[in-house]
Amino acid sequence: MAQKLWDKGKATDAEIEKFTVGRDREMDLYLAKSDVMGSMAHITMLESIGLIGKDELPVLLAELKKIYKQAEEGKFVIEEGIEDVHSQVELMLTRQLGDLGKKIHSGRSRNDQVLLDMKLWTRDMIQEVSESVKELFDTLIEQSEKYKNVLLPGYTHLQIAMPSSFGLWFGAYAESFADDMELLLSAWKITNRNPLGSAAGYGSSFPLNRQMTTDLLGFDSMDYNVVYAQMGRGKMEKIVAFALSSIAATLSKLAFDACMFTSQNFGFLKLPDECTTGSSIMPHKKNPDVFELTRAKCNKIQSLPSQIMMIVNNLPSGYFRDLQIIKEIFMPSFAELLDCLKMAIHTIKGVKVNEHILDDPKYDFIFSVEEVNRLALEGMPFRDAYKKVGLECEAGEFKPNKNIHHTHEGSIGNLRNDGIVALMNKTISEFSFDKVAAAKTSLLK
Ligand code: ARG
Repeated sequence: MAQKLWDKGKATDAEIEKFTVGRDREMDLYLAKSDVMGSMAHITMLESIGLIGKDELPVLLAELKKIYKQAEEGKFVIEEGIEDVHSQVELMLTRQLGDLGKKIHSGRSRNDQVLLDMKLWTRDMIQEVSESVKELFDTLIEQSEKYKNVLLPGYTHLQIAMPSSFGLWFGAYAESFADDMELLLSAWKITNRNPLGSAAGYGSSFPLNRQMTTDLLGFDSMDYNVVYAQMGRGKMEKIVAFALSSIAATLSKLAFDACMFTSQNFGFLKLPDECTTGSSIMPHKKNPDVFELTRAKCNKIQSLPSQIMMIVNNLPSGYFRDLQIIKEIFMPSFAELLDCLKMAIHTIKGVKVNEHILDDPKYDFIFSVEEVNRLALEGMPFRDAYKKVGLECEAGEFKPNKNIHHTHEGSIGNLRNDGIVALMNKTISEFSFDKVAAAKTSLLK
């Protein structure tokens, strides 16, 4: 029979146990470092209110640091028959320290423990995602500046419409990521609040010092109301999932454009050979699989908020085991998104743009509006100019003037990438990463 924190001497049906534990042991491995760090903060606080002895605290902390190191080196395992990460850490402590190890759970429940672990872990993931998005953003801005004078056709309805440029195309995705970063920042703010001390969801009669653990763990504030703290399980994940989904949507659209633009029928972009894949039958093939997989994975990530919503939707307040399942869909999605971002950085850096797209006469009509505007500026009423140019187009007599002058903000001739960069930098500066890093360092020193 498995060892359980809640064991009172009666065996649980093995099938029931297998079903209730499910994939939790696998998911909880993600949480090992967070769980240990949370315990370090908790017992430091317990010592301050007299629930752990002055001499006991350093012993416990030293042992927890060893476990943390083990987790850092990838050597932490949840043993056969152990239910979850919380039980495993406590087991390791009691093995080394006997009864002293059992003291760390005072004033706590696995409900607030897992809430806390998820927040600490998600904070790290948000930081990684933000750094990766920023790197892709920088790459896009760089390409936008480099190719700002290279024109390409803009489309509406996938019909050629007006002149666009690679400066605009790359820069548009950069700006989209700047907006996505705003959502990620909101998600960060909601994540970076401390649920520890809410225990099973109703607090504790021990005089816990919640401000102390809030500070020790580098949180911006606590989730004050203990009932609300528990209600945050699933809510935090859903909000973060919305931010991930927004990033994934930008990436997926970029991937679709890139697939289309690398097709021979467009020929606007070329991937370096080493970024393409071949075919088992067609010897000439250089396929953009990397963008196709990015598109599919990112579309999948966009379903994450709905999946979480379906799990939490009809739950009343208070803890339910339903919440455990969120881990299975939420946690692996970070690695998937980070992978896609990494691939996008790599391919966008290497992509070659076609500098002569508009030499092809099939794109001549994209300059029709330029001609209408030129006539209007010369004094012809816009509607008359529109008609004149329209008739020329119909008659096959339209002669494009490819020297275009777009000067307003955000247009081909005035990208305002400086404004986009300023937006992004301002948002990034509002994440409290430094404070979190400092708290971690001082807790683990
Ligand atoms: N594995 C559980 C979860 O993720 C941990 C909390 C268990 N709490 C309980 N009351 N059974 O939700």
